[in-house]
Amino acid sequence: MDEEILKGLIKKPTGGEWPCTGGCGKMLDWPGACSECIAKFERSLRGFVEKTIEEKLREAEVPPASISRYTWEGVRNVPDPQALRAWAGKPPLLTLSGPAGTGKTAIGVLLIETWLEAGNQARYVHVPRLIESLRRRDDAARADAQAALDTARAVKGLVVLDEAIALRQTEFAVDTVLQTVDYRLSYELPTVVITNAPLDVIRGLDERLSSRLSGGWIVFVAGHDLRAR
Ligand SMILES: Nc1ncnc2c1ncn2[C@@H]1O[C@H](COP(=O)(O)OP(=O)(O)OP(=O)(O)O)[C@@H](O)[C@H]1O
Ligand SMILES: [Mg+2]
Ligand SMILES: [Zn+2]
Repeated sequence: MDEEILKGLIKKPTGGEWPCTGGCGKMLDWPGACSECIAKFERSLRGFVEKTIEEKLREAEVPPASISRYTWEGVRNVPDPQALRAWAGKPPLLTLSGPAGTGKTAIGVLLIETWLEAGNQARYVHVPRLIESLRRRDDAARADAQAALDTARAVKGLVVLDEAIALRQTEFAVDTVLQTVDYRLSYELPTVVITNAPLDVIRGLDERLSSRLSGGWIVFVAGHDLRAR
């Protein structure tokens, strides 16, 4: 075969003699990767490092059924949802109080999402489930629950205590919430307390707890039951 034709066959259109190490098949004038392959690699690396908001919500222990379910536009039963959305932890204690189905958990989860999106830490705690595990007979299970509580209450970002105080509560449950709130307050750590117990009921359960809640921001989530249709 003619030598010129052979050269033409071997030589790739871009003309270089080095195949791109990014694997795109381009021939380069230098050893290494082309700019497109470098950009592609950087994008995939970023995707690996930056977790999606769903992953962050799962890590914050938001229940799967509550992920990607609520929107700020869907918040109905408070006078000023945007004021809530803008709450940046001052005062550190925010209580959401109201009857069943009014959207309290939704607001708690939306706040967690807002904090995570801003690059802060956040944690969801379902208090009845926590209390239940703290009362297990099995020592190891109880120790695990206690460790989980210690970790949750020390979270530097937002902690949401959902269903924190029910209408009827054991002394142990009230004490656990009181101690957690107290710890968070003493370090001025942002905490949301969600409850369907009216404040006078909380006062009846524990004066120290109601006093601390009254020192924070109390938002009544009252109106229609959003579950009813
Ligand atoms: N912001 C929102 N966006 C979309 N849907 C919402 C929103 N708020 C409430 N809902 C709907 O209303 C239902 C009840 O809301 P949510 O669970 O937050 O009430 P709750 O006040 O926490 O009730 P409970 O006291 O019984 O726990 C939700 O399951 C959801 O379907
Ligand atoms: Mg709820
Ligand atoms: Zn390449």
